Amino acid sequence: MQALKYITEQIHTVVVATTDRNGEPVTCAIDIMDYDTESLYFLTAKGKNFYNRLKERGRLAFTGMKGESTLDCIAVSVRAEVRETGTDLLERLFEKNPYMYEIYPSKESRKALTVFQIYRGTGESMSST
Ligand SMILES: Cc1cc2nc3c(=O)[nH]c(=O)nc-3n(C[C@H](O)[C@H](O)[C@H](O)COP(=O)(O)O)c2cc1C
Repeated sequence: MQALKYITEQIHTVVVATTDRNGEPVTCAIDIMDYDTESLYFLTAKGKNFYNRLKERGRLAFTGMKGESTLDCIAVSVRAEVRETGTDLLERLFEKNPYMYEIYPSKESRKALTVFQIYRGTGESMSST
């Protein structure tokens, strides 16, 4: 759980790898917005290519890093299953990450958003020193 908290609060933005319909790798930046004892949570919008890749494969891998330079850096890498949990947790994610209200200021703009849970995974952390 300490690792999940660290990823959410200290690293926060990670680079997520998924695969497309042809099995080709695709990466994008995603903010990890919340955690519990066994899972991480992020949100995305229905209709995005990223959303479709998540739904098709149900798996992802990500790496997040914290530090100013290679000698002062911790990297955490995770491979896991992912599933859509819907909108129930959306409000909690916004409350924990208030900058999201600036990106999606109106109820209308939040309509397409949905929450995903990262669960049942393996991970490792590395530092260069
Ligand atoms: C710092 C940063 C954080 C981001 N966080 C998210 C996020 O939490 N959820 C999301 O859907 N998109 C997020 N994005 C945007 C995605 O990276 C971007 O929409 C994605 O690359 C689009 O990919 P697609 O065209 O394959 O759907 C973020 C972008 C940046 C630069």
